Amino acid sequence: MCGIVAYVGPKDAAPILLEGLQRLEYRGYDSAGVVVSNKGFKVRKVKGRVADLAQAVPARFKGTLGIGHTRWATHGVPSDVNAHPHLSADERVAVVHNGIIENATELRAKLEADGVVFASETDSEVLSHLIARTVEETSSLEEAVRKALKSVVGTYGIAVLDSERPGEVVVARNGSPIVLGIGEKEMFAASDVAALVRYTRQVVHLEDGELAVLKADGFHTFASGGLETAKEPLTVDVEAGHYDTGGFEHYLLKEISEQPETVARTLRGRLDERFHIAHLGGLNMDARETRSFRRVKIIGCGSAYYSGQIGAQLIEELARIPADAEPASEFRYRNPVVDPDTLYVAISQSGETYDTLAAVQELKRKGGRVIGIVNAVGSAIAREVDGGIYLHAGPEVSVASTKAFTSTAVAFALLALHFGRVHDLSPADGRRIVDGLAKLPDQIEEILKQGDRIRDFARKYAGRPSIMFVGRVRGYPVAREGAQKLKEISYIHAEAYPASELKHGPLALIGPEMPTVAIVPDDELLDKNLTTLGEIRARGGNVLMIGHREPDAKLADDAIVVPKNEIELDPILLTIPLQLLAYHAAVALERDVDKPRNLAKSVTVE
Ligand code: G6P
Repeated sequence: MCGIVAYVGPKDAAPILLEGLQRLEYRGYDSAGVVVSNKGFKVRKVKGRVADLAQAVPARFKGTLGIGHTRWATHGVPSDVNAHPHLSADERVAVVHNGIIENATELRAKLEADGVVFASETDSEVLSHLIARTVEETSSLEEAVRKALKSVVGTYGIAVLDSERPGEVVVARNGSPIVLGIGEKEMFAASDVAALVRYTRQVVHLEDGELAVLKADGFHTFASGGLETAKEPLTVDVEAGHYDTGGFEHYLLKEISEQPETVARTLRGRLDERFHIAHLGGLNMDARETRSFRRVKIIGCGSAYYSGQIGAQLIEELARIPADAEPASEFRYRNPVVDPDTLYVAISQSGETYDTLAAVQELKRKGGRVIGIVNAVGSAIAREVDGGIYLHAGPEVSVASTKAFTSTAVAFALLALHFGRVHDLSPADGRRIVDGLAKLPDQIEEILKQGDRIRDFARKYAGRPSIMFVGRVRGYPVAREGAQKLKEISYIHAEAYPASELKHGPLALIGPEMPTVAIVPDDELLDKNLTTLGEIRARGGNVLMIGHREPDAKLADDAIVVPKNEIELDPILLTIPLQLLAYHAAVALERDVDKPRNLAKSVTVE
């Protein structure tokens, strides 16, 4: 979703801002804009891509201070005018904003009553007008911003320029990330480190309520009351190359292909072959506390939620602790009972999905014990939780989640092993899981080798208007994630059902027009799944089977056979062909694979 970049230093700001915005494109957006300051503001805003904005910026767009933005429309359609930055009527103040100003209607009415004429339909524009007023009354831009924000209700990450103070930019955050980048006699700020890693690895994350003043020679941070805060810069361990396609046609294919390595990274240093346990130092939980939980509740959004369903099954099976997953977006709105005997697990690749973050905050407010399974180190959710497991999967750029999904499932297997071994999971079963986990990277590599065959199936099925996905128990979250991947990037309608539920309704849809992808692991439910294949084919439906046994393949029209691991871990492997199937279907249909329409990588609004 929306992205922010800011620069102050000796160089020309515009190329740096445009490059930064390009790095934020993966988050999803519909328009973009930049402003540079040089004896007044120079502004360009366009509906469309950052490349269109770069075209619109003239060569004489000089200035060594500037801010840029990619917008994902919430209030007002995508258009040049609604794109950020927004300027005050006197063109003294320029603002870019991520988040939502909840009392914008009220603030707008008040400002309009005072004669302010608004240029756009956005909620964000109120900020430039509010700051334009306080800047007249205060002695610093920092104080003006702080004062203006007092009347604002909502979430924001903002960057602000005052044309009469040409050497500084002020940024502030409340619920929407801002990270400062420290350079050599230059400073950067952005909503995501992706925009900074070309220029610096030294970063400072702002906390909610904090504000920072950036000048070429350094920065100062302040708490909302105005007191200066002390911040320790972190060195981010991200290569600029993580944000390149690395020779692949799309980020999505690159990220699918990285999974042998990313799964190995999630496992690294965490498997103990002596005691057959998992080492999870980041949980901050001793054995006694680990034993004290009677339930596990998992929350996340989108693919994170589906990986949570795999996680719940792993915890129930290996630790025999009741566990279930729920979309964080639903959980937070139903006034959940927060139980002291429940361990809450929040899952998020980005660590900034607003619904998940808000659910965590609600849980903490009620005294719940929350851990996180997060990929982005130092992100908002990672900082909010009591402990957790980092995925170490590296930045995920494509909107559709793949490597973070498998790494999250692996992290859950580690968590389930850990819980299981402090409860009743035997050393022999512990060893079975440790050995199974260690085999995953090589087995994923094996599945990736079938890429060309899977592409052929994808081409065959891509012309169908709708595809059913079915699975039983462990296979059901796999089917859900498979359907999600396909619909989000290929726009083919797909739905997932527990195979056992087919007879209770969806079988009515089955026929030659509606093929089924069936998840058929070699587990205790194999016979039941094979019966389901027969039922579908008897109604004229084609079946693409994803399973383990060659002989079963004869019962389907098409089959992808994957290596077998332990039954509890098989869902992780069964997911991989479905990622490739969705990818190749999207390519066959010439979709914008990495940036599917209407979707954003990090959903930072409700
Ligand atoms: C968006 C993305 C999904 C992702 C979900 C949760 O909807 O398009 O791919 O699964 O957000 O994101 P998170 O960063 O919290 O895992």
